[in-house]
Amino acid sequence: MNFQLIEKLESFHDLEPEIEDFRSAVLRGLSAKNKYLPCKFFYDLRGSHLFDQICELDEYYVTRTEVGLLKENLAEITECLGPHCHLIEFGSGSSSKVRILLDEMEKPVGYTGIDISRDHLISSCAELSNLYPNLGVRAVCGDYSEALNIPALENSPGRPVAFFPGSSLGNFDETDAVNFLARVATFLSKSGGGLLIGIDLKKDEEILNAAYDDSKGITAAFNLNLLVRANEEIGAGFDLSAFDHRAFYNSRLGRIEMHLVSTKPQSVEIDDVTFSFIPGETIHTENSYKYSLKEFSSMCAKAGLQSTKVWRDSKDLFSVHYIENSKPGA
Ligand code: AVJ
Repeated sequence: MNFQLIEKLESFHDLEPEIEDFRSAVLRGLSAKNKYLPCKFFYDLRGSHLFDQICELDEYYVTRTEVGLLKENLAEITECLGPHCHLIEFGSGSSSKVRILLDEMEKPVGYTGIDISRDHLISSCAELSNLYPNLGVRAVCGDYSEALNIPALENSPGRPVAFFPGSSLGNFDETDAVNFLARVATFLSKSGGGLLIGIDLKKDEEILNAAYDDSKGITAAFNLNLLVRANEEIGAGFDLSAFDHRAFYNSRLGRIEMHLVSTKPQSVEIDDVTFSFIPGETIHTENSYKYSLKEFSSMCAKAGLQSTKVWRDSKDLFSVHYIENSKPGA
């Protein structure tokens, strides 16, 4: 850990979402009838850098469109956020989108980045703190899908606004998404804050498929990095040349699915356990749900939230929502 960088932060909380976790997740996921690995494990340092490269791809419209929406509607968005705001970013990654907001916001008082990728989190937050010397920058290393009772959020200054960009909500299945939104709703009603969230929209399948299977193979490398990680961190024996990247839109379920496909009969040893693969068998590594505006607002309603303001691009690729709790005190 880089202590010089941590010193630049107002605080650093380590909730220790650890390697042991990765080991047990791999053992559990590969023991299932339909093998899977949780997508949160994509983001080690190398995975985080690959993800940043994905965001620059021509085919990956998500980041570009969301950034465009933030920039084009900046005055309106920052008016929603109001003065003396404390931004809390879930899955803060490189903390780059937040700069667009910070440059325009009226007297922002604080920023809390929450991410599972420790070193990436610390360096991004330290950089942010250099760029905005008057901003109290806090970093929390943790898994936001698990709990929101995060120490750094108690007695933090300013009016809290949760920032959840990139359509990362799409990684949850519907029940988990509603539960997550309901936890945010509770937090908002206690704190009188808001939620600024990016939601990817249903669209032409060709656009979706290309976004998750790019011509440069960056998304393939990002997906395969899970196996690289398993080999390095928990001594798994995956043959990287015997797994292919596969991504496709499942229209029945309204989601992109990513898989790693075994190209031959093979077995892999981890901790004295042998996992066998038949040719064509897959490890399901990610879901990325796409919503219509109606579907998203009905999820919000189930969670006790009401989307107050929606911005979308002219091609209806992506949407950004500002939400305040509809039932104060609820
Ligand atoms: C970070 C979840 C928003 O689903 O688009 C990108 C992750 N996976 N390419 C997404 C991802 C493959 C991304 N999210």
